[in-house]
Amino acid sequence: MKAALIKEFGGTEVFDYTTVDKPVPSSEEVLIKILATGVNRLDHYLREGSMMPDIPLPHVLGSDAVGEIAAVGDNVEGFDIGERVMPVPGYPMNPEHQDINPITLAPSYGIVGAANWGTYAEYVKVPAKFVIKDISGLSPELAATLPMATVTGVRAVKEVGQVKAGDKVVILAGNSGTGSFNIQVAKALGAEVLSTTISSSSIDFIKELGADKVINTKDEDLVTAIKEWTNGEGADVVIDNLGGDFLAKSIQALKPKGVVVSMGFAASPTVTFDVRSLFFGQTIIRGTIMGTKEDLEFGLELVRQGKIKPQLDVALPLSEASKAHDMLINGGVKGNIVLIP
Ligand SMILES: NC(=O)c1ccc[n+]([C@@H]2O[C@H](COP(=O)([O-])OP(=O)(O)OC[C@H]3O[C@@H](n4cnc5c(N)ncnc54)[C@H](OP(=O)(O)O)[C@@H]3O)[C@@H](O)[C@H]2O)c1
Repeated sequence: MKAALIKEFGGTEVFDYTTVDKPVPSSEEVLIKILATGVNRLDHYLREGSMMPDIPLPHVLGSDAVGEIAAVGDNVEGFDIGERVMPVPGYPMNPEHQDINPITLAPSYGIVGAANWGTYAEYVKVPAKFVIKDISGLSPELAATLPMATVTGVRAVKEVGQVKAGDKVVILAGNSGTGSFNIQVAKALGAEVLSTTISSSSIDFIKELGADKVINTKDEDLVTAIKEWTNGEGADVVIDNLGGDFLAKSIQALKPKGVVVSMGFAASPTVTFDVRSLFFGQTIIRGTIMGTKEDLEFGLELVRQGKIKPQLDVALPLSEASKAHDMLINGGVKGNIVLIP
């Protein structure tokens, strides 16, 4: 099969679109013919070697896919050849851990394309218990934008942030792959949303996602803007995919007992803050990583109901994986980039 391999860590030139062996599913797995695969910022970190530099090379990146069942293992029931499916983008790699709840706490939990060969390829094999039927009714290009952003958004906003109707919620980086879904999940749960960007050209896009207010944090101070928006009270929840000063400022901009959900570090992985801003406000900081099969199913149902719309910036051939990563690095991508094998 064809795959976009990385043979070394480095710049976007390290991709090699080449032929590799087609995976052979075990008795508990299915083989999926990939129709489209999503590009996530994680893929960029892994490619450059700044995250998990011990991954054995060559390696196939990619966590998100939508495809068709191409083969089923001997013990697998409930899937038909040719059926449209979507793998959960992370699961426990050790079969003995696969019933731990939530799966993200399993010691062997791994993200597809980080813990094993991923989806920048024509085929991928996945344990059948971590494959769901694709009920989205969308084209493969659109559906491939969903898995990681959906599981992450549902877990971060609904399960970890415990956002509820009427909450005032701040979703950082609304034009990002994660932010664009976080906004839609929060709106579907009935929250009011303030979102941010560093590119003025993204403001209209973020408003169209449903954000009630959008600020450019290059022009406006985040804490002041949130305080004004909440009539001085502070936000109930901030969903932080940026880290750095954004996390520090989020702590200052919450109401007493408010919650910051830390889920990313697109601006910086390190943060300095005055601890008084944390304990005076009895602030709660919670971390979250990925999500469960149930989170993906909840998100796909919102998609089916039209409450979450996939955000496709562009679909490129898999052979142009390096161009996709250049676009990610250069910024200003609205939603997700997808690759077609
Ligand atoms: N916890 C989890 O399970 C989970 C899951 C998925 C992703 N993540 C993490 O979440 C973060 C975002 O991922 P993503 O896929 O949404 O990324 P993405 O689509 O590439 O978007 C990155 C966003 O960060 C903004 N940005 C970059 N540098 C910035 C800076 N210095 N100041 C302010 N904004 C900045 C970009 O703005 P421009 O486009 O305008 O440059 C863009 O909106 C990453 O750290 C990723 O690893 C975590």
